[in-house]
Amino acid sequence: MKVLIRQEDLERRIGEMAAEIERDYAGCDNLMCVGVLKGSVFFMVDLLKRISIPLAVDFFQTSSYGSGTTPGEVRIRKDVDLSIRGKDVLLIEDIVDTGYTLRTILDLLRFRGARSVRLCALLDKASRRQVDVPIDYLGFEIEDLFVVGYGLDFDERYRNLPYIAVWEPDEPSDVPSPS
Ligand code: IMP
Ligand code: MG
Repeated sequence: MKVLIRQEDLERRIGEMAAEIERDYAGCDNLMCVGVLKGSVFFMVDLLKRISIPLAVDFFQTSSYGSGTTPGEVRIRKDVDLSIRGKDVLLIEDIVDTGYTLRTILDLLRFRGARSVRLCALLDKASRRQVDVPIDYLGFEIEDLFVVGYGLDFDERYRNLPYIAVWEPDEPSDVPSPS
């Protein structure tokens, strides 16, 4: 598969993002970093290891595009464990595609009384957007390609690649089905 973003470029950019987040949240004592399982995990670990301010970690897991769902219908499969009320929430995601997943989670965090909510995403496929989601910290904007690696999967494979690659089918009939 063709490498789209090399490991060293990921590391450099994530270092810059961590420095920016650390500056913006300096002095904050109720920061809660919320990842969206499973894709964000590799990115989240590398990002948060570079941040020294105190923070809590929690996770959502969502599903969409499944059988019996309409586009934009996002289900919460795993909720956060911790209380959101009064927290400064930094939502961490691997990729923003249509935007439906993050729109749903952002609305839920606000409804639960977060003090502030910001979004940090490694990748942005802006040309695919269906609903508006403001990204406060962005790694890379990419074209409308199906990508794998560094947390992103095709059918649960390739998450452990240390770089981002453009997914190419083994068989021409294989079609990506993100979940
Ligand atoms: P949404 O369309 O913005 O709601 O994105 C939903 C989810 O689709 C993302 O969080 C990813 O898990 C998945 N996804 C979207 N594009 C890709 C891709 O290119 N590779 C792997 N997963 C993707
Ligand atoms: Mg995801």
